[in-house]
Amino acid sequence: MASRQGLSRKGIILAGGTGSRLHPMTVATNKHLLPIFDKPMIYYPLTTLMLAGVREFLVITNPHHVPAFRDLLGDGSDWGISISYAEQPRAGGIAEALLIGSDFIAREPFGLILGDNIFFGHGLPELLERASATAGAGGAVLTYRVADARRYGVLVTDREGNAQDLIEKPEEPPPSNRAVTGLYFYAADAVEVARSLAPSARGELEITDVNRALLRAGRLSAFEIGRGHAWFDAGTAEALAQASTYVEILQRRQSTGVAFPEEVAFRQHLIDLDRLAVLTERMPDSRYRSYLRMLVREERGG
Ligand code: G1P
Repeated sequence: MASRQGLSRKGIILAGGTGSRLHPMTVATNKHLLPIFDKPMIYYPLTTLMLAGVREFLVITNPHHVPAFRDLLGDGSDWGISISYAEQPRAGGIAEALLIGSDFIAREPFGLILGDNIFFGHGLPELLERASATAGAGGAVLTYRVADARRYGVLVTDREGNAQDLIEKPEEPPPSNRAVTGLYFYAADAVEVARSLAPSARGELEITDVNRALLRAGRLSAFEIGRGHAWFDAGTAEALAQASTYVEILQRRQSTGVAFPEEVAFRQHLIDLDRLAVLTERMPDSRYRSYLRMLVREERGG
């Protein structure tokens, strides 16, 4: 199925790293396989990119975790998408994903999402589509106002709101509270920008340096994710628990499904209702299956 004009069909999910801040939960498994309430963390960035129009995925993870991701996600065909895998042997930085993924990107615009970034909100797909559509000109970042901006990369703007600079982990007091979230859209030549970078003081290729180069060239757009949306970077035990609670509240109180790839695939016409029902009935008895059964019933008008 053709995506709408200008949108990125390709997307990279970066699910590497040691998850050291979540020790010992990450000794025997990968951070992005840990649960956010009733499903593995990686389902959230996966469905976020699906909602943005991405259909071809590259999951980048540590060499010894590739089999586990393959077991969980397969080749994507159940959900009407394709998923392939690549390895990041060492913590080389977020921008290294552009180099690892260069063959996959193959001169097309693409999205990049960090595997621990969770987005939710009404109207988010439209915002993502707008960001994705502008990325052909260079790149697009999405920002979110936070209480503790020192933990993130931040966007500094002038009084009119025009982007001036990007600063990674600013010192106190931060020059801005607009954190740059871990979801980016780029034109294919962002790979060349990443290739030209020198590693930072922490020995990594910084995504903020890619974005700063695009900003200086007048090729970066910034979109603000408004107050009606939630954004979590689930890299700490507190954030993991908060994101779980948030999803639980949404799902229990409103019977809304958050980040079910089967549901997103169905709503995006990547699979039909019969296929959704088959996938659902293959699952063992679980809260996850109960939600999808309810959805199938509703869609059948019963
Ligand atoms: C990374 C980026 C930072 C961004 C954050 C979002 O930080 O370097 O610019 O704000 O992701 O999750 P890290 O999580 O690697 O500290």
